[in-house]
Amino acid sequence: MFEIEKYLQEAIQIAVEAGAKIEEAQKLVKQIETKENTADLVTKTDKAVEDFIFSRLSVLFPDHVMIGEESSSSKINQFSKSPTWIVDPIDGTTNFVHGFPFYCVSIGMALEGKPTIGVIYNPVLGQLFYASAGHGAYLKQGNPDQIMGNSAPIKLGSKCAELPLSLSQALLSTEYGAAKTDEYLLPKLDIIKSFISDPVSGRGIRSLGSAALSMCLIAQGVVDIYYEAGVHAWDVAAGAVIVKEAGGILRGWNQEEFDLLDRTVLCVRPSPSNDQNPPLLKELISILKPIAYPRD
Ligand code: IPD
Repeated sequence: MFEIEKYLQEAIQIAVEAGAKIEEAQKLVKQIETKENTADLVTKTDKAVEDFIFSRLSVLFPDHVMIGEESSSSKINQFSKSPTWIVDPIDGTTNFVHGFPFYCVSIGMALEGKPTIGVIYNPVLGQLFYASAGHGAYLKQGNPDQIMGNSAPIKLGSKCAELPLSLSQALLSTEYGAAKTDEYLLPKLDIIKSFISDPVSGRGIRSLGSAALSMCLIAQGVVDIYYEAGVHAWDVAAGAVIVKEAGGILRGWNQEEFDLLDRTVLCVRPSPSNDQNPPLLKELISILKPIAYPRD
């Protein structure tokens, strides 16, 4: 338990420092490369910030496993008994490139394959979300000094209203993802069509470009449902702990259990009644379509 608190505090410190590096780089001309296609970007800053995070973590915890989106994504399914850090140095790279203020450092840590620590820091909005298994989820806001100082954290999940009873009153968040072939795209468009048209006529869809921050909005209780297929473990490892610890529902598309490697995520915001199978969730599941992404 003491160890986990130490890991969490170190991850917070490193995330805030990494955020400062990202904001420095935001002022410069960006060097951009594409990965899967023109909507799947990586910049020199993603790589530099990942190197920075790993250099800090590996001095502190030399026997831990480090997996990062930019340097070691192929190792993602090789969990060991040792704590495993799962890092996305910039989640929301496209937003970073355009200056759209929703990008973050996402640092997760899994113990025996289970997400146990989550730290997500949005340096533009000055928001630090953090959680460790069994100890609640919190938000600190302000400049880096305020965040690292004694400013009081807000406990997430404690002040949410009851969930709407149907999707017609729900605010939903999702993403289209990088894969653009019909196999992946058509089912997603079908789901969106079902949500926005009659008879569901949902209240609205948001697509913010960061899986990690979308999960933080669920933990904050300002979005009712977030779902995505195509995410990777580094997009959701930290957010998984934050949603769960805030009291939200965290699961996969096809199974109740959240599976870090199965490329799907489905979250419902916290609510006072804490119903694990609310009508809103059943209704969403009824319009989801299966999509077969290869596992991480
Ligand atoms: C992406 C973002 C995006 C999600 C993609 C992720 P990146 O991460 O989280 O919202 O739709 O699935 O890959 O590439 O910006 O780190």
